[in-house]
Formats: sequence, structure tokens, C-alpha cells
Amino acid sequence: MKLDALVFDAYGTLFDVHSVMRRCETCWPGKGAALSAAWRAKQLEYTWQRSLMRAYRPFSEVTRDALEHSCQALGLALSPAQRDELMGEYLRLALFPDVALQGLPGKKAILSNGSPDMLDPLVKQSGLRFDAVLSVDELKIYKPAPEVYALAVGRLGVPARRIGFVSSNCWDALGAKAFGFNVFWINRNGAPVDRLGVQPDAILKSLGDLPEVLR
Ligand code: 2OP
Repeated sequence: MKLDALVFDAYGTLFDVHSVMRRCETCWPGKGAALSAAWRAKQLEYTWQRSLMRAYRPFSEVTRDALEHSCQALGLALSPAQRDELMGEYLRLALFPDVALQGLPGKKAILSNGSPDMLDPLVKQSGLRFDAVLSVDELKIYKPAPEVYALAVGRLGVPARRIGFVSSNCWDALGAKAFGFNVFWINRNGAPVDRLGVQPDAILKSLGDLPEVLR
């Protein structure tokens, strides 16, 4: 496969959103895993709902709302200090151990739901280098709206058929496939493919398998 650019999803693909679990567990022993799962699920749900409602708010706000709702739903009292502390965790999420971009061909970019106030500090502290870090924030609509994927085409100056899109979020991978990218779904947990009428071009167990399929 000859590609001129690789575009990566951020949260859940390069950065482990569940690395917040440790801090959640410190705040509420025994509830860390449940809170982390509820927080992520509600965060995504709000992005889809806000896009459909045409009521965009930045990902930082959506993420904070999702945290507050999840705590309330689980019966966990969240102080303003705890909220700020947990939101701070999003600025230093752990990189997945299989992230290695050296040697991958073409331009490298991030295309993320993350608003610049969250995404830029996170990428900076990770030490990873990209040719572009693109946020849906300039379009005011979330993935998987096709105009989000089109943003990468326009900004990288590479046609969709020459772009490889890499995501661990199946719904994102399939949104990118429906748009016209070559799609690599990083399926670390062996989940079934979502039923959305399209299939990824390749399903990989790890980001570490990417160089092999690009050869
Ligand atoms: C991202 O856009 C979908 O959370 C994912 O980074």
C-alpha cells in the first residue's frame, strides 16, 4: 500500500484515556474502573449528541460535563478540587506502550476531537512529533462527521486515497473508511467490528504491527 500520510486518532489510540483510573481510584477506592469507563462512555456520547443537536462545545467542556455526570450517576461526591485534578490527568495521559512512530512513511498528523486547550499540552508533553495536530474545534462538529476527515485532506494537501487513518475507536475507524481513507483499526482488545456497513482495510492487534502492513 503506497501512502503519503498517516493520520492518527489521539484519545484511545495514542493516549490511554483509562490512565485516569489511578487518580479516580485514589479519590474513590474501589470505584476507579467504573468511573473511568462511565466517564469515557459519556464523553463520547455527548460529542455525538452535541453534533446532532448542532450545539458544539469544546471537548474540554464536554469532558468536564461527562465527569460530573458520571460521578453523580455513580453516587460519588466530586469537589471542585477533585474535578480540576481529574481534568488535569487528561493533560498527561499515558502513551500506549506500542506507540512508535519512527520509521513510518510519509507525513504524520493527529486528527482529534480534542480541543487545542487539551490536545496541545498533551501532545507536547508526550515528546511525539507530528507534521500537523488537527482539531475538530475549528469546524465545531465532532467525529465521525465527514467534514472532520476532509479537514486532514485539505490541511495535509494529500488526497484521501493516499492517506492511512489509524484509530483504535472502531466507530472512528469506520467513519474514516466511509469518508474514503485507507483505514487501520487498532483492535487491542479483540472486539467485534461495529455494524455500520463498512469494514476497515486492516485490523491490527497493536500499533507496533503498522510498519509491517505498510511495507
Ligand atoms: C479523538 O478524537 C475519538 O477520542 C477520539 O481523539
